[in-house]
Amino acid sequence: MIYKYILKHLLFLLKPEKAHQFALSIFNFFLYLPGASSVTKLLFAPSTPNLKKKLWGLSFPNPIGLAAGFDKDGRHLKKLSRLGFGFIEIGTVTPLPQPGNPKPRLFRLPADKALINRMGFNNEGVDALVKRLKKYKSGHIIIGGNIGKNKNTPNEKAHIDYFTCFDKLFPFVDYFVVNVSSPNTPDLRALQDKEPLLFLLDGLQKKNILNPQPKPILLKIAPDLSDAQLNDILEIVHKTDIAGIIATNTTIDRQNLKTPASKINQIGNGGLSGQPLKNRSTEIIKYLKANAQDENIVIIGVGGISSPEDAIEKLNAGASLVQLYSGLVYEGPGLVSKINRFLEKDSQKKR
Ligand code: FNR
Repeated sequence: MIYKYILKHLLFLLKPEKAHQFALSIFNFFLYLPGASSVTKLLFAPSTPNLKKKLWGLSFPNPIGLAAGFDKDGRHLKKLSRLGFGFIEIGTVTPLPQPGNPKPRLFRLPADKALINRMGFNNEGVDALVKRLKKYKSGHIIIGGNIGKNKNTPNEKAHIDYFTCFDKLFPFVDYFVVNVSSPNTPDLRALQDKEPLLFLLDGLQKKNILNPQPKPILLKIAPDLSDAQLNDILEIVHKTDIAGIIATNTTIDRQNLKTPASKINQIGNGGLSGQPLKNRSTEIIKYLKANAQDENIVIIGVGGISSPEDAIEKLNAGASLVQLYSGLVYEGPGLVSKINRFLEKDSQKKR
């Protein structure tokens, strides 16, 4: 309520990237106030015993995760873990630090409850992230490490970047996500093609199983793939025996938007997220589930979740877990607990 009627209006007066930083600072300040711990628990972390889920030997307290890109450098884990997420994905991280694309690179489309971003993997690099994770000793929240390649690394050498991030992050994250689906790094999505993808995932999995306790590796895919490309991906996931798929990243599609075409053209390139992505990402989850060789394939559903019903739609489509990002911008941090409360009540009714 406070978010929707007051805070959101204030934040929307700022440029989107500034608003993101400012919102996190306000939350940080709030956490230092006396009694903040009990208040955040009450507001954001309802008891949800029926939502516990065991996957890959990890105990997820609930199925709602924070999608990659919100906390690229793992700077805000402590704060974000207070919002009731069942897991948090950090990154995309690259081996070397890089500034990303010039600003402005993040845009709001309020009429569509959507965002367009062309951040371009701005991050401080994997060494800085590891340093921070070494200091972070919560141990309570499940952390996913989303890995990518530096802009200047050619695709023929991309696997080296992914291997570097994988090796360095291995002791500090609970699962990995191979991001080959961002539209904002030139040619990155070509790594979703059959041959380079098989080479990359096979290489990572070979490294992974050398460890006494290998970690789940998931592949994050774009929503703009054809059925034939999705079939190839299913075949590779089966062949390499990776743990699952995250569906989906942002889209380059601009159809059926309420925002005027002139504004969309003015914004230019980037990945669209939020409500307009919802149906396509659900469709992909259904397609993957229906066409996978392994009917137990694990899918994390993401794209346009801004209500409990949206989360249920993805779970019913076959997702084991879901994630969100843009919904937080439009609905506020209370969205996570709102969904969890709803799911918990729903599961109690079904018992
Ligand atoms: C993202 N997303 C993203 N994904 C990823 O794998 N690595 C990244 O670095 C980023 N960065 C990023 C930045 C910004 C500003 C946005 C809005 C999104 C994509 C994100 O994780 C998610 O897949 C999509 O945004 C779709 O979910 P929502 O936002 O519709 O809930």
